[in-house]
Amino acid sequence: MKVLVPDKIEQKVIEVLQDAGFDVDFKPGITVEDAIKIVGDVDAMIVRSGIKVNKAMLDAAPKLKLVVRAGVGYDNIDTQYAASLGVVVENTPFGNTNAAAEHTLALLFLLAKRIFQGQAELKGGTWNRKLEGTELKGKTLGVVGLGNVGKKVTKVALALEMHVIGYDPYVDEKAMKEIGATRATLEEILKSADYITFHLPLNAETKNMISTTQFALMKDGVRILNVARGGVIDEVALEEAIKAGKVAGAALDVYEQEPPTCRSLIENASVICTPHQGASTKEAQINVGLDAANQVIAALKEHKIISCVNGVKALKN
Ligand code: MLT
Repeated sequence: MKVLVPDKIEQKVIEVLQDAGFDVDFKPGITVEDAIKIVGDVDAMIVRSGIKVNKAMLDAAPKLKLVVRAGVGYDNIDTQYAASLGVVVENTPFGNTNAAAEHTLALLFLLAKRIFQGQAELKGGTWNRKLEGTELKGKTLGVVGLGNVGKKVTKVALALEMHVIGYDPYVDEKAMKEIGATRATLEEILKSADYITFHLPLNAETKNMISTTQFALMKDGVRILNVARGGVIDEVALEEAIKAGKVAGAALDVYEQEPPTCRSLIENASVICTPHQGASTKEAQINVGLDAANQVIAALKEHKIISCVNGVKALKN
């Protein structure tokens, strides 16, 4: 059986698939158009976020039974159309969440301490000991989305003596208590948090969920972090809120379009930005790659579906 890997992935992952007897076509960086030309005889695909598994790709792959996303978010896959064709879509929900949580925490410190401003001034020859940061201790952190990443961020923030309030419609009072955050509505978070961090998938419900109306509710001087998905925060509204002084700083790892086209937002001095790097640690890439390979092996060899995200619970013949 043939597995196409049209994204960059650890070599070890390819070897695991080959050792399991699969014919692996490893094409990191291939375009969607070129991938469409070679998917005709493919049984399974392992993708990251670099390639779009769209309608045209799925139509061109009549033998395709399974797409495994080596990562958490699967907004680059047309999951519903795949379901209509009986193609199982899985993600790997655990392997890179620690990396994303650590990236969020790194950005949280950078926002509070103004480290980049200090560095830029000193590298430019200015010795400015008056540059002041703020402390995280005692501040309120609003965590929107309490999945694996949100939980880890909460745990560390509590250790830093931050007050953590959490919003997640899928987490009840008891579970929120176990996580250690105080359960809040989104509006309560918007109105009272000093820092707000988003850990949500991008879907119809979350697209532009933070826009002009929501920024207006926030405290003056709030700081915003997004290491989840671009498009959850309206980038134009964010830039306006920064210019108006409502938002004192933002740390962004993800963008509505990637690579991002919101140049003036990125270039704003109050914005810290990284290139969708949250999960890009050596460890996370090995973890999600091996999880994906093992899920392909489990599905194609043992008919076991481990982490289905599109409701197709069995492989088609
Ligand atoms: C994820 O969804 O797993 C992360 O955003 C990393 C990635 O897109 O590869």
